[in-house]
Amino acid sequence: MTNPTTSAPSILVTGGAGYIGSHAVLALEQAGYQVVILDSLEYGHQDLVEQHLNATLIKGNTTDRDLLDQLFTQYDFVAVMHFAAYIAVGESVTAPADYYRNNVYGTLNLLQAMQVAGIKQFVFSSTCAIYGPPKTVPIPEDHPKNPISPYASSKLMVEMMLKDFQKAYGLQSVCFRYFNAAGADPQGRLGEDHNPETHLIPLVLQTALGTRDHISIYGTDYTTRDGTCIRDYIHVADLADAHVKGVQYLIDGGETAFINLGNGNGFTVKEVIETARKVTGHPIPALECGRRPGDPPSLIGSSEHARQRLKWTPQYADLETIISHAWQWHQKRHG
Ligand SMILES: NC(=O)c1ccc[n+]([C@@H]2O[C@H](COP(=O)([O-])OP(=O)(O)OC[C@H]3O[C@@H](n4cnc5c(N)ncnc54)[C@H](O)[C@@H]3O)[C@@H](O)[C@H]2O)c1
Repeated sequence: MTNPTTSAPSILVTGGAGYIGSHAVLALEQAGYQVVILDSLEYGHQDLVEQHLNATLIKGNTTDRDLLDQLFTQYDFVAVMHFAAYIAVGESVTAPADYYRNNVYGTLNLLQAMQVAGIKQFVFSSTCAIYGPPKTVPIPEDHPKNPISPYASSKLMVEMMLKDFQKAYGLQSVCFRYFNAAGADPQGRLGEDHNPETHLIPLVLQTALGTRDHISIYGTDYTTRDGTCIRDYIHVADLADAHVKGVQYLIDGGETAFINLGNGNGFTVKEVIETARKVTGHPIPALECGRRPGDPPSLIGSSEHARQRLKWTPQYADLETIISHAWQWHQKRHG
């Protein structure tokens, strides 16, 4: 069934109780879609789904084929949006089997169940990590792919499957390669709450809240404007908006596309910390440490493709806005 009370098109969102997925569900609901979330809740937040989203939440795993078949029989989905994955790069190096099982096998299982159910539209969360150390910055989509972690390899493997599934079965997908997702719902309903946390902005804000005594800066001798690494921070609400545009592109007959999602602006680690000091009014002690292996000096995406093909423009491109929204969320959730 689609929905007994409305004819709104239904979308299955895997990982919709997680950080980016929950913001995408909110944006889909605002755009008039009906959403069913499939999330193992290993890392997702049931309380946030229940408080702020209308979606039906199914606790379950993408590796469970019986459950997927049951869902695809019960609902008439126009598309699947697939966020569910393990995301910790460092952990993927020590536990690659878990990453290949969850991220690659889980996705294959999902794609096979979709094929049987006749669902032909798929939006996938890929990552800029598939490019590896950049040869050109800003990084275009046709940049060589040299993943240097099992996490990144797991995402590239799915991208390869999607190309083959298009040729063999007519599956059309939008594969979004995100740069660094950051920020929170501007109205403060949802935000980033990873455990363990590895991302710079939440770690800096945890320091401002007093749950950490300092933030570590890894490497101050890079060939960048202040010696620290430059990253492209993309507001999670802008990511969510791109997903709505991506699914609409597919529903309108668009063909498989691989699309970077970045802000187009890079900020250094020191600029992030300085902006967070300004936003929070906290001194945020920082400790300068050596470089971490595998960290490229600068990662900035070219998002021309997203702008032209999807008519997408980031609304929250400045760092102070991104950090202000994240701070509002962190104070509410952890303050
Ligand atoms: N956060 C970033 O900066 C970033 C950057 C690039 C790509 N991505 C990708 O975006 C997606 C979402 O990332 P996030 O930061 O929201 O992560 P998250 O951990 O907050 O969300 C992932 C959600 O998926 C669920 N999940 C994991 N494996 C599952 C499975 N097999 N079946 C069902 N549910 C499962 C988790 O419980 C969690 O709720 C991931 O695919 C990630 O690789 C994230």
